[in-house]
Amino acid sequence: MAARRRLKKQVYFVLVGFVTLIVLIVAIILGINTYKDYKYKQTYEYKLLEHGYNDEETAKILSMFSDNEEIDFFLETEKNSNYVLLLDEEYYLSKNFDKYINYINENPDMPLRDIVRNINIHLDNDFYEVTYNTDTSLDTAMLVNKYYRLDNTYNPDDLVVIPQTYSWGDAGSQMVREVAYSAFLDMWNAAAEEGYYLMVSSSYRSYEEQEIVYNNYKNSSGERYADSIAARPGSSEHQTGLTLDIFSRDNSNRATFAGSEVANWLAENSYKYGFILRYPEDKVDITGYSYEAWHFRYVGEDIATYIYEHDITFEEYYAYFLED
Ligand code: DAL
Ligand code: ZN
Repeated sequence: MAARRRLKKQVYFVLVGFVTLIVLIVAIILGINTYKDYKYKQTYEYKLLEHGYNDEETAKILSMFSDNEEIDFFLETEKNSNYVLLLDEEYYLSKNFDKYINYINENPDMPLRDIVRNINIHLDNDFYEVTYNTDTSLDTAMLVNKYYRLDNTYNPDDLVVIPQTYSWGDAGSQMVREVAYSAFLDMWNAAAEEGYYLMVSSSYRSYEEQEIVYNNYKNSSGERYADSIAARPGSSEHQTGLTLDIFSRDNSNRATFAGSEVANWLAENSYKYGFILRYPEDKVDITGYSYEAWHFRYVGEDIATYIYEHDITFEEYYAYFLED
């Protein structure tokens, strides 16, 4: 009888012990899960998802930003998928992030590609509104435009004369930098083989010469028109000695040269010799100049080829690949 009672007692203790163990295990598992849940809710992943960004957007934000302050931006502002899509734009530059965001907010309907481009090349400012000094140390890749200027002391020191076989004007009046001249000769020969005879109508122009060109247009037709076809002094690529206005022997007329066989040949082939059509017809809003079928800038074969193949302007190339 006593043995039976002892057994019963033992079974009772084992059962109680077992149940206690189960309760403990369940409590531990629940505790761990609650803790994990608590920890997860502290993460940016959770907060971004809660804020409305989807899995993909959240992953993108987390992969692009490591700084808490930067991620906080996405939580502190109203959810906007464009803020994230922006990060995948081809010419996105992280240094411009804040500027892109402001510009998106000011221009909510503008395509992101244009947002990135305009900010990169300063097009959010009016032409000549902000100006920087051209980085001449970039040599053949220096940028000169309505934002980047050369001062009146800049003169290339390796100008060579373009013989009258290839240029109009008085003997010795047309000059260009040596490297561009050599490339031009290669291009001239290639064009001649196809029966096209190239002629240069304008080449290096000093600051003072550009001042005369610009002021003539301004005085005769007003500033707005002048700005659409001529650079203000300091802002002309002709001052670099790397630019040529090229026509053909039988056609120096601006109006009829555009669309001519020679103009088309130049547009399609000049990059092989390191030149770019600098002011194309479909880039007027970007360059700030009317279509100039004759104005070719030497930038070297690599840059010219990239610009030709990607159908971008030198401004865009410079901002993405060359500017600090
Ligand atoms: N015609 C070009 C824009 C210049 O003046 O440099
Ligand atoms: Zn020109």
